[in-house]
Amino acid sequence: MDNIAGSPVEGENFFGRDVDVARLRDILANDDILLLGPRRIGKTSVARAIMAQVRAEGWRAIEINVASSLDERGFLDKLESALKPELGTIAGKTMDALSEAFSTLGGRIKSLKIPVGAGSVGVELGNADAEDWTKVACDALRLIAQVEEPWLIYVDELPILLFNIIRNDAQSGVQRVRRFLDWFRNDVRALPNARKVRWLVSGSIGLDTLVQEHGMADTINSMKHQGLEAFKDEMAIAMLAKLAVRYEIDLSVADASSIVAAVQWPQPYYLQSAFHHLRDFMASNSTASPASLIEQAIDRLVQPGADNDFHHWAGRLSVQLCRADADHALALLNLAARDPGGARAENLLAVLEGRMTNVAAEEARRTFIRLRDILQRDAYWWPDDSSGVRRYRFRLEPLRRWWLRRDTL
Ligand SMILES: Nc1ncnc2c1ncn2[C@@H]1O[C@H](COP(=O)(O)OP(=O)(O)OP(=O)(O)O)[C@@H](O)[C@H]1O
Ligand SMILES: [Mg+2]
Repeated sequence: MDNIAGSPVEGENFFGRDVDVARLRDILANDDILLLGPRRIGKTSVARAIMAQVRAEGWRAIEINVASSLDERGFLDKLESALKPELGTIAGKTMDALSEAFSTLGGRIKSLKIPVGAGSVGVELGNADAEDWTKVACDALRLIAQVEEPWLIYVDELPILLFNIIRNDAQSGVQRVRRFLDWFRNDVRALPNARKVRWLVSGSIGLDTLVQEHGMADTINSMKHQGLEAFKDEMAIAMLAKLAVRYEIDLSVADASSIVAAVQWPQPYYLQSAFHHLRDFMASNSTASPASLIEQAIDRLVQPGADNDFHHWAGRLSVQLCRADADHALALLNLAARDPGGARAENLLAVLEGRMTNVAAEEARRTFIRLRDILQRDAYWWPDDSSGVRRYRFRLEPLRRWWLRRDTL
């Protein structure tokens, strides 16, 4: 097993999530999945393991990443580009029938006009007969459902595409997102053979927050919401032990435990990163013991240059929340970051009340509860009742340290 900290891992390098793969695979027998979670928790790796599994069972599986897509046409472009090579592998009569219909699809997608701005601006003259994108999309699905095997379509970063639509179309972006999600929930399911096509949708920013903020939570209810838990301590220690064997590092169980304790939320990425820095330090201090270098390795995680991933945690707040809420959330997290044990709920509420002096106390309280839940669901913090008084504390200790550094001169 290689020490990979960044790219999705597959095969031998995919550690410890077989149970998740089996669980998600089971869900796909009857339902589509919405797999949400912060960056780097292993969504793509798990999705690819599921793709490999269903392929072995005879399914066809494709992956599209729509993070750079700007609109509905961008989504269809990606879909078409991924389907083309997959359909190319089908032999015989089915393919002959399909290939002609499919070859016109590309042209239809290119000539789509996406109605930006409530159907006025952006719809150029002469395109009165341009097709609605949902029709082209349904035709594409109708086509692939003619193939004998079932399909799995893995759509990565769908929330980013939807946020792009909202950001680039102030007038009707929200309406278009609702249409997109309605298409997904209603039109797609109404297609003949809809059950032959299963969807695995994933994202690193909260689609759940987006739909709640815009009153369209109903649109994603048809998918099963799933996340990826951090490893249990034993699993985390076993992974570090395996890496240590591979790199011939003499890491004791106590050493591995102290890495896990320092991370606190043992998602494999943070273990891989900590191990990576430890390896680096060991290479330049050949006589030092791992134990003496762990603290430095963890510290390196949060220093400028190595802290790219933490920036995302701050950035996604302003992507998914309005400006005022994002600023409130930052202030709450700033307070919680000051102590590894977190901050007391009343003190956090007081921070919000101090920022919202022109509204009734009741509204500040409601805002606190709403943001508290978002921060909890998105894995920033968790409620710790162990001291008898509720405290909200960071889940990922290196993130807390980074946050504190970021908020300190
Ligand atoms: N099952 C696993 N075994 C070992 N390492 C893993 C596993 N899953 C994830 N990782 C670690 O996490 C990193 C990121 O994995 P992956 O790209 O799958 O996450 P992601 O959630 O899709 O991230 P992003 O949101 O950035 O797309 C990998 O490079 C690896 O370090
Ligand atoms: Mg990914």
